Amino acid sequence: MDTIEKNTLLYTENLSKNFQGIQAVKNVNFKINKNEIRALIGPNGAGKTTFVSLLCGRIKSTNGAVFFDGKDISNFPVYKRISGGIGYTFQITSIFLNLTVYENVALAIKEETGKTNSIDKEISNVLDKVGLLDRVNQRSGDLSYGHQRLLELAMGMAQRPKLLILDEPTQGLSDPEIDNFKFLIKSLSSSTTVLLIEHNMDVVMSIADKISVLHFGEIIAEGDKKTIQNDPIVQKAYLGD
Ligand SMILES: Nc1ncnc2c1ncn2[C@@H]1O[C@H](COP(=O)(O)OP(=O)(O)O)[C@@H](O)[C@H]1O
Ligand SMILES: [Mg+2]
Repeated sequence: MDTIEKNTLLYTENLSKNFQGIQAVKNVNFKINKNEIRALIGPNGAGKTTFVSLLCGRIKSTNGAVFFDGKDISNFPVYKRISGGIGYTFQITSIFLNLTVYENVALAIKEETGKTNSIDKEISNVLDKVGLLDRVNQRSGDLSYGHQRLLELAMGMAQRPKLLILDEPTQGLSDPEIDNFKFLIKSLSSSTTVLLIEHNMDVVMSIADKISVLHFGEIIAEGDKKTIQNDPIVQKAYLGD
């Protein structure tokens, strides 16, 4: 096994998804290394959400395979992928609106560890990191959309995943909150691998180690910031306008 393979956390082989006639994801061969921060960009409808949904098992692939942490997880259900170390937050928030901020994070931790006591410290810790500690007893449904996204991020972090997948996490955040988010993700990368779908190019350019560009379900370019910014195909398809 060479170094690249040893460092690989997740890879896909010809991963594909068809929705009645629409090929949302087409034969994608994707690879992410341990402790990498990867940005996945592309126009609306490119297949980004579908692609990461295939990774975490929310939808079933039409064809192809997903390997994670040395195992073929293609047929694993969502819960098994979560317990194996894949955490995610999605564009549509999945928090319990009638529970408090505290209770939502507690549930996320309990799901992972089965523990019910001595989790206060962990809850305070992750809420502090995302900047929601002062809202710990607030009803989650009363938070702004941006803060609900931050709560989801805290819930994802509390599960200490090996791979954290974030689908447009900065949507609805203010500029200072986005700055905090960038700092947070940078600091996470010593212990976690991050796959980030992001429209805010400033966020992408300041935190991503590597960028993958998805266009009509295919990865049309991949590389560091310079490579992506200077790629004529990417400029035409995405950055140009
Ligand atoms: N559940 C679904 N049923 C049918 N078509 C879908 C479904 N989810 C996504 N699509 C289609 O797949 C394509 C990719 O969508 P999506 O993955 O949401 O793109 P992105 O996240 O890049 O904006 C779009 O054409 C979208 O309309
Ligand atoms: Mg999407």
